[in-house]
Amino acid sequence: MNTKLAVPLLLVLAGLTLTHEVEIANSADPLARDPGPRATPPDAGSPLAGLTRTETAFFTAGKDDFEEAETVSEGLGPTMNLDSCVGCHSQPSSGGSSPAVNPQVAFANKMGARNRVPSFIRRDGPVREVRFVRNPDGTADGGVHSLFTIAGRSDAGGCGVAQPDFDREFSRGNAIFRIPTPVFGAGLIEQIPDAVIRASALSTVAQKSALGIAGRPNVILPFNTISGQTNNNGNDGTIARFGWKAQNKSLLLFSGEAYNVEMGITNELFQTEREENRNCQFAAHPNSITDTTASNGTAVISAIEKFSFFMRFLAPPKPSADQPGGAASIGRGRGNFAEVGCTLCHTPSLRTGNSNIAALRDQPVNLFSDLLLHDMGTTLADGVSQGQAGPREFRSAPLWGLGQRLFFLHDGRTSDLVVAIRSHASDGSEANRVVGNFMRLPERDKQDLLNFLRSL
Ligand code: HEC
Ligand code: HEC
Repeated sequence: MNTKLAVPLLLVLAGLTLTHEVEIANSADPLARDPGPRATPPDAGSPLAGLTRTETAFFTAGKDDFEEAETVSEGLGPTMNLDSCVGCHSQPSSGGSSPAVNPQVAFANKMGARNRVPSFIRRDGPVREVRFVRNPDGTADGGVHSLFTIAGRSDAGGCGVAQPDFDREFSRGNAIFRIPTPVFGAGLIEQIPDAVIRASALSTVAQKSALGIAGRPNVILPFNTISGQTNNNGNDGTIARFGWKAQNKSLLLFSGEAYNVEMGITNELFQTEREENRNCQFAAHPNSITDTTASNGTAVISAIEKFSFFMRFLAPPKPSADQPGGAASIGRGRGNFAEVGCTLCHTPSLRTGNSNIAALRDQPVNLFSDLLLHDMGTTLADGVSQGQAGPREFRSAPLWGLGQRLFFLHDGRTSDLVVAIRSHASDGSEANRVVGNFMRLPERDKQDLLNFLRSL
């Protein structure tokens, strides 16, 4: 018999049997469902408790700049994905993730711009940034290709730079997506010492290896990537932690990169333009700098420092004690989440060290992430490597704030928590056994777990 056929057939049969058994075992219970985003007012977006008066002033100045839509004379473009940080980071409030209405659709033609909206950017879909997996010659690319250009805008006369053909790359399977990660509590994440991340990873090695989750010794995968390990920053060898692949070390670095890559605004970390077409430069370089002539602190610092202060001083999302489903269900769900093994990657709490900001010093960080990379198998693979993170590896996504999120997983492929959980399971994923445990839970226990996730 053809073995290529035999394997999928067996899997299909195994799947059918499993579903069948589950249905019989729980015929009395309704199927567990994602209760959907919590309808309470935004439980995120305020500054950390305990900031000093001057720290609060830097938070506020940063928030203003984070929310400002930029123009070409301020350096926007020539190529970019949007014109403000908040446009992508806005659900459920400034600093969050993708909103219900994707602002990229309207932006494509703002002020006369002539951009085509690629098929995968939809008004009711998530904000997306696009990376190409390979260059035309077949070598690895992995970089962000800006969706839009300033060509045609009334503030960009004479600029004719063209968009890449995104739909063609997409139909070839060469375009992958990333959605915005929320930055609530990001200052706490920034201040977790490497030793805390390593000690936490080591404390559960036995449970992890029993479930096929990488601990030490590490599993070496194709492309020489090492899963279940920390992603070290190429510049100083310490643990990088921001972004879907834990590719960036700090909020300042992410701000500099986002200002340059998402908005096309060069700055003191990224001094020269990504697109240097001479007809498309309308501001001096770098576009945003420290104002050495200003007299007060918040006016002196450059935009990327302001963004960093805003994000660093944002409080973590506030979980709900009783919504959805009531306190008892949420409590049971928290237990089930640990029991099936989700906490082995989504570590409930880490701790900051001796930060020089009092509000960030020696604080619990209830992020639900180990900040490590894991091999997530073929279904989630994006084919892109960043630092030590290989084509199938991702940082355990922090789950705090999940209750008010609209889109899930790195590419925003679903709005349904059940689909997000099932997508963890595929060929080679470290989460296979844990997802199996979840799928075997009685429906009412699954429901408690989902209620718990939406309480975060
Ligand atoms: C076009 C949409 C878009 C815009 C505009 C945008 N971002 Fe993002 N942001 C993203 C995406 C997508 C990611 C995830 C990127 C990744 O991991 O590769 C992200 C991730 C981040 C993160 C990482 C958070 C974490 O914990 O992983 C930070 C910090 C951030 N953005 C800051 C900013 C700042 C500051 C600005 C404005 C200068 C900005 N972003 C503008 C889309 C955007
Ligand atoms: C082997 C480690 C691992 C295990 C075990 C694991 N996860 Fe994850 N989880 C991840 C990674 C990595 C991601 C990001 C994947 C991506 O976006 O492609 C993720 C993403 C998620 C997301 C989407 C978050 C977002 O920001 O979009 C949810 C929800 C989630 N996990 C819930 C669970 C639940 C519930 C369990 C237990 C049944 C679980 N996970 C078990 C590693 C794990």
